[in-house]
Amino acid sequence: MRTHYCGQLNSSQIGQEVELYGWCHRRRDHGGVIFIDLRDREGLAQIVYDPDLPEVFASAEQVRNEFVLRIKGLVRARPEGTVNPDLASGEIEILGRELEILNRAETPPFQLDEHEKVSEEVRLRYRYIDLRRPEMQARIKLRAAIVRALRHYLDGHGFLDIETPMLTKATPEGARDYLVPSRTHPGHFFALPQSPQLFKQLLMMAGMDRYYQVVRCFRDEDLRADRQPEFTQLDIEVSFMEEQSFMELMEGMIRDVVQEVHGIALPNPFPRMSYQEAMQRFGSDRPDLRCPLELIDIGDLMATVEFKVFSGPAKDPKGRVAALRLPGGGNLSRKEIDDYTKFVGIYGAKGLAYIKVNELAKGKEGLQSPILKFLPDETVATIMARTKAQDGDLVFFGADRSGIVNEALGALRVKLGQDRGLLASGWHPLWVVDFPMFEHDEQSDRWYALHHPFTAPKSEHIDLLEQAPHACSSRAYDMVLNGTEIGGGSIRIHQMELQQRVFHLLGIDEEQQQEKFGFLLNALRYGAPPHGGMAFGLDRLVMLLVGAESIRDVMAFPKTQSAACPLTSAPSAVSAEQLRELSIRLRSSLDKE
Ligand code: AMO
Ligand code: AMP
Repeated sequence: MRTHYCGQLNSSQIGQEVELYGWCHRRRDHGGVIFIDLRDREGLAQIVYDPDLPEVFASAEQVRNEFVLRIKGLVRARPEGTVNPDLASGEIEILGRELEILNRAETPPFQLDEHEKVSEEVRLRYRYIDLRRPEMQARIKLRAAIVRALRHYLDGHGFLDIETPMLTKATPEGARDYLVPSRTHPGHFFALPQSPQLFKQLLMMAGMDRYYQVVRCFRDEDLRADRQPEFTQLDIEVSFMEEQSFMELMEGMIRDVVQEVHGIALPNPFPRMSYQEAMQRFGSDRPDLRCPLELIDIGDLMATVEFKVFSGPAKDPKGRVAALRLPGGGNLSRKEIDDYTKFVGIYGAKGLAYIKVNELAKGKEGLQSPILKFLPDETVATIMARTKAQDGDLVFFGADRSGIVNEALGALRVKLGQDRGLLASGWHPLWVVDFPMFEHDEQSDRWYALHHPFTAPKSEHIDLLEQAPHACSSRAYDMVLNGTEIGGGSIRIHQMELQQRVFHLLGIDEEQQQEKFGFLLNALRYGAPPHGGMAFGLDRLVMLLVGAESIRDVMAFPKTQSAACPLTSAPSAVSAEQLRELSIRLRSSLDKE
């Protein structure tokens, strides 16, 4: 029986005999004395073997990295000068009296402390070794602690943990579905849930009142550092609550969790900001409030200037011309400005105009920029005043369709914040509210739901739905932490007629409504309570709280950027027989025929 975990040992056990189980992290042979650093989930401990017990010593000589060991020994203080302050058990060592090799290990494909030398592909292929790294163990443990704290809060507030199906019908959350063929219904497919959205609404209609689930969601979309094809939501829904009290309940949960895992008190209440204000000031609906830089509109000054790059978007109701002042940015080199110009290009910006502010007192003479010649003196002076430019600053400009300017300058502001060390420390949560109901897509000339089609419009906007969809705001809310959207939700539509009006607006005709959402429309006819909820991206929340760069670092078995699993080689081909059973014939085999 194990008596202790390695990392739990300290000077309070001196004189005790302990039994430990773990892996050989490192073995050092010091001429006549062998040191083994034994590693388990909770940390490392140093075991010393001397030749007094020849059999045991002989076993110790055989041990190599990653061998699995059982050891027994006596805890003693380390000799003076050999204390290791970096190690929890650094004041003690164990004089080994027994050593059993429970299993041998081949030389691992990478040494744990040299994981950076191998590609992520290799680390994912040997994920069980990668996960042995103390850093990964700490993250996975912290993830478990966070989930425990979230559940504790919800259990304590009367929520029921209820499971919903994985084999189901598509729910529109805006991504492609992962499909599963049905053997018993040839030619028919299940979809893996993009979220449990409709089931949780049905649970409210079933009278469950408060629901939550830690649930896997599947979305076939282009992957980024904060997206995975399967990820985990903390999914929540409540009945008979309006947005104010629900948001208080939810931020209370996040405050509790951050208090518990970091001992830090988040603001109470979280600040709230309208979508409109977030886009205006930060060019983003998930503003990173750690960064002090803000976008400033100058479109009104640009409509009449000669410079077409600026006057075009200034006159276009769908355009935007905005400035972004970088305090002290006057020292940016030509190369740095070129790099930032390339950076905004990723977001579709066609250029990145700028003005260097050398000496304001000298007027235009004191400024430096390729665009000055296109702008009247008083316009330049107004820009300088409006952006509050100071000597030594640099002001960037974006001019294009609003969407492009917001994305480009929104991303630039965060990048400048990082590159120039302008980000405040700590945690900066906020709610973004008052989202528009719909977004218009020019190409297809259709309206899309900004959140999802089950989100309720603000009651005062219901009458506007058909005449002015663009002017309708929804009862949706997003929670944002340090520039990441960690969760989002809304008060839902609970009346069938209103749900049908919204479907119509989204171009979903009667027939499609019945085919895709008939079960929801039916349920709405039999006494649906007012309800609402939200879902947190658990992986994103954990990523932020443990300080990881990517959600892959807080998932035990993530997929690669191309949505594959190098460990199991999934996805993989299946046998002809399996396909036949599922009544599926592949196009490649048809081509051969
Ligand atoms: P939404 O689509 O906004 O809402 O998702 C909720 C949260 O899930 C996280 N998330 C992801 N995390 C990792 N990888 C992904 N591919 C991914 N996609 C989303 C985000 C996001 O905030 N049913 C609604 C919620 C509701 O209305 O209650 C929904 O799924 O952190
Ligand atoms: P040009 O006249 O194309 O040489 O552009 C003059 C300056 O304006 C350059 O610094 C460009 O990077 C910049 N610029 C060009 N297009 C845009 C745009 N859409 N938004 C902001 N700056 C731009």
